[in-house]
Amino acid sequence: MTRVLVIDPHAPDAGAVNEAARVLRGGGLVALPTETVYGLAACALDESAVGRVFLAKGRPSSHPLIAHVLGEEDAQGLARSWPDRAHRLAAAFWPGPLTLVVDRASGGPIAVSGGGDSIAVRAPAHPVARAVIRALGQPVAAPSANRYQGLSPTTASHVLRELGDSVELVLDAGPCEAGIESTVVDVRGSQPCLLRPGAIDLRALRAVMADVSRGEAAALIRDQLRPSPGMQARHYSPRAILRVARDRDSAEALAASLSAEGEYVGLLVRGPLSKPASPRVESRQLAQDPKAFAHSLFATLHDLDALGVNAIVVEDVPGEDEWLAVADRLTRAACPR
Ligand code: TXA
Ligand code: MG
Repeated sequence: MTRVLVIDPHAPDAGAVNEAARVLRGGGLVALPTETVYGLAACALDESAVGRVFLAKGRPSSHPLIAHVLGEEDAQGLARSWPDRAHRLAAAFWPGPLTLVVDRASGGPIAVSGGGDSIAVRAPAHPVARAVIRALGQPVAAPSANRYQGLSPTTASHVLRELGDSVELVLDAGPCEAGIESTVVDVRGSQPCLLRPGAIDLRALRAVMADVSRGEAAALIRDQLRPSPGMQARHYSPRAILRVARDRDSAEALAASLSAEGEYVGLLVRGPLSKPASPRVESRQLAQDPKAFAHSLFATLHDLDALGVNAIVVEDVPGEDEWLAVADRLTRAACPR
């Protein structure tokens, strides 16, 4: 049976934190909140616990995980080298939703790396995640707490619905702030490269490091390439079939025609609807601002899935860099299974 402990996100109760650390020390799995999404945590240095994370998610063990640390010093302990670029980005964005890919130290946790030579590290900002890492005294491997290719969880009930019994303990600190995963940047090469757009947008990254390339992330969106292990085209998907419509009118028209064919449809648009929705269309209005939109996107898709819609139609988002992370998640959610 999974236990759930409610915990204050701002002032985490030491009893709950210590209990999470105890479970992790014993090789168990704990779902915990971060400022992006809920993570499925295991002690990063315990190879069999990390193996359990892959099993619980149904994720191939060659798809690397992120090691969560308190700061640069701990990250350096996992890295073979710590380039100046890593230092500059960490100094600007840690603790926070930025993941850095560096060369893995030769004795570093190979299971976390999915068997590869690199390792992804991030220092989360969420007080609960930090308190658990501190109490454990070791880095924590934590992918998003969902089944392989599914929607990331932004509340504890999403975690329970997705993973159920395979997690021993869930720390419930309420909804996550960003609602979308961390930005992943590879700092190994001569030019830093955006591998996954996320909660920190490209403009903010480039304000600190002007030459961050979005080459591979942009190519992924266009051509559905796979820029890094674990980044397959189909990902972040609800159970319902998701389709992205060019604009508001075509989204409403598509939703109406699907419902006329007997489908139960979810419709996601930005701002108010222009006309009343057809019967059997569950419409949801998301924000016009990219951060606010990202905050509610996964939660809204989870809700529509829970209602049992068969199809979800989403109005496409603007092409500006600020929308890159949302556009990436929508493209992958819409990828045919
Ligand atoms: O916001 C987040 O990053 C959340 C929270 C829980 O911290 N975690 C998360 O983990 O989203 P996951 O495993 O669902 O996604 C990790 C991403 C994947 O896109 C994976 O390909 C990439 O990071 N990644 C991890 N290790 C990597 C590596 N060594 N090289 C390249 N990409 C890597
Ligand atoms: Mg994930």
